[in-house]
Amino acid sequence: MTQADTTTPLLFTPIKLRGITARNRIMASPMCQYLSDDGAPQDWQLVNFGRFAMGGCGIVFTEETAVEARGRKTHECAGIYHDHHVPMYRRITDFIRAQGAVPAIQLGHCGRRASQHGPLKDRAPLTEADAIGKLRPWQGISASALPPTPGGNIPKAMDLDDIRECLAAWRAAAQRALDAGYDLCEIHGAHGYLIHQFLSPLSNLRTDAYGGDLQGRMRFALEVAETVRAVWPSDRPLFFRVSAIEGAGGVWGIEDTLALVRELKARGVDAIDCSSGGVGGDGPMPGVPRVPGFQAGYSREVRRASGLPAVAVGMISDAHHAEKLLRDGDADVIALARGLMDDPNWPLHAARELGYAGALKLVQEREAQRLRLLEQHRADYPQGSAVAIPYGPQEQVAYSWDEGIAARPGPR
Ligand SMILES: Cc1cc2nc3c(=O)[nH]c(=O)nc-3n(C[C@H](O)[C@H](O)[C@H](O)COP(=O)(O)O)c2cc1C
Repeated sequence: MTQADTTTPLLFTPIKLRGITARNRIMASPMCQYLSDDGAPQDWQLVNFGRFAMGGCGIVFTEETAVEARGRKTHECAGIYHDHHVPMYRRITDFIRAQGAVPAIQLGHCGRRASQHGPLKDRAPLTEADAIGKLRPWQGISASALPPTPGGNIPKAMDLDDIRECLAAWRAAAQRALDAGYDLCEIHGAHGYLIHQFLSPLSNLRTDAYGGDLQGRMRFALEVAETVRAVWPSDRPLFFRVSAIEGAGGVWGIEDTLALVRELKARGVDAIDCSSGGVGGDGPMPGVPRVPGFQAGYSREVRRASGLPAVAVGMISDAHHAEKLLRDGDADVIALARGLMDDPNWPLHAARELGYAGALKLVQEREAQRLRLLEQHRADYPQGSAVAIPYGPQEQVAYSWDEGIAARPGPR
C-alpha cells in the first residue's frame, strides 16, 4: 500500500493491491439491479455503474454476478455463465476504466435462495403458477435440504458431484470475468447465499467433510477461494465479502470470521469486505442497527487480527466520517452503496468537503474545465455583492441576492 502524505486526505490517497492501483479509497459497493436478460447486462448497467466511475470512485463494483444460471435469485439477476456474456461486460469495464476507476466484479451463487421474485414483489418464491407468465421456477442447491425461510422452496443438498460441478462454474466464471476486462474480483461469501449456507451451522447439517465443525463448514468457501485464485492472475487482487456476524438469532460470529479470514489469507485472498447479515432460517434475524459506520467495528477487527486490508461499508455518507475511519485504522477502503445512488458525484463532493486540492481531477477534464468556470463565476460574484443585469446597451436592472432579478422599470 502507498503511504499517505500529510496534505492529501487519506480517502484520496491511492491504494495499491497487487499490480492494481486505485486512484482513491472510495469503492462503489456491489448492487444487484434485477435488470439482466438471461444473465446479460443491459444499457442500464453501463449507465448505472458508469456514473459511479464518472463521479470519481477509485473502485467500481458492478453487481453480484451468478457463476451459474441456477445460482441466480431471480430470472432478472446478473450472471456470467455464457461465453457470449463476455463482450457485454467488456463494454462496461472499458467504460469504467476509461474514467480512471478500477472495474470490479462480485461473483456469487445464491444457493437455496434461488427461484424468487425480485424485491419489488417481496422476494416471494416462484411457483408453477408463475411459469404461466414465463417465470419458470427451478430448484436451488445448498449445503443441506433446508428452505431459506419457513415454507420456502426446498433446495437439493449438494452431493460431491454437485460440489465439483459448482467449483467448475466458479472457475469458468472467474475466467470469463478476466476475459471481460475486470481488474478486481470479489467472492460473495455473505448475506445468506451459498457460501454462507455452508459456513453457518444453521443451514449446514452435513455429516461429511463439508459439514460438522468449523473446519468442515469452511471447506467449501476455501475451495471456492482456491479455485478462483488459481484462475485470477497473480497481479490482480481478490476480495472476499463476509457476513462478519449473522445477527441476533444467528450462530456465526466475529471469532468464526477471524478464523475464516486467516484461512482465506493463506489462500491468496487480498482484502476482506466486511458486511453482516443472517443466513435466515426459522425466525427473523434482525440486522445490526443501521447507524453510520455500523459495520466498521468488524473491518477494524479483521484488519487488526489478520493484517489484511479491509473494506468498511454501511451508512457511510459523511466525508469527514469516512476520512476518520481510515485515519483511525478501522478500514483501508470505504464502500458506499445507497450514498452513491443518492449522489453519484459523492467522491467529488467529499473531496471538496475535505479540502482536497485535486478534487476536479476526479472527473473528466472536459467536465472539470466547466466546473472550474462555475467556481470562477462564484468567486467573481460573491454572495451579497452588487450586481446589475444588462437588458440592452444602456439598460441594466439591479440583481438582488434575496429576490433575484427585479422587474424592468417602465412599460415594454
Ligand atoms: C440496491 C442494492 C443492491 C445490493 N446488491 C448487493 C449485491 O449484489 N451484493 C452485495 O454483496 N451487497 C449488495 N448490497 C449491499 C451493499 O453492497 C451494501 O453493503 C449495503 O447497502 C450497505 O451500504 P450502504 O449503507 O452504503 O447502502 C446491495 C444494496 C443495495 C442498496
